[in-house]
Amino acid sequence: MNRSTPDNKNELPRRGFFQLTLGWLAGAFAVAASAAGAVRFLVPNVLFEPSLRFKAGKPDDYPDGSVTFMEDERIFLVRQGNTFRCLSAICTHLGCTVNRADHGYHCPCHGSVFDEQGSVKSGPAPRGLEWFQVTLSKDKRLLLDKNQRVAADKYLVL
Ligand code: FES
Repeated sequence: MNRSTPDNKNELPRRGFFQLTLGWLAGAFAVAASAAGAVRFLVPNVLFEPSLRFKAGKPDDYPDGSVTFMEDERIFLVRQGNTFRCLSAICTHLGCTVNRADHGYHCPCHGSVFDEQGSVKSGPAPRGLEWFQVTLSKDKRLLLDKNQRVAADKYLVL
């Protein structure tokens, strides 16, 4: 039994063409979405951070007895005679940047006070400021490494 009439004789092939086209488009979209997902999978979710090891100036750039604040790195470079040390300026309470004060350091956020050695004189900071390793690079510049914590009495002697 044939239900076609002369008026809709070409309707079924046209409908078939649209369905076929729609199917191809859906398939192409699925392949493109899968390929995009695969490419995205190859790119890791990595957060690039600046290195914790960096060069400062040459030793002579820092006068004897100076305490130089390096804002970008949040550290103090301390020179006493021919010795160099690096002190963290990050408060051990909640991470504010401490300021230089008379005979030590002061945190403006909650009032912690640290002595010249970075030890806590008054809280709420739970422990003293961190000291970091200082070495000399091949080009005779100070090399500061915030990955390497050292004791307060360890310093570079030139
Ligand atoms: S962050 Fe320094 S005392 Fe709270």
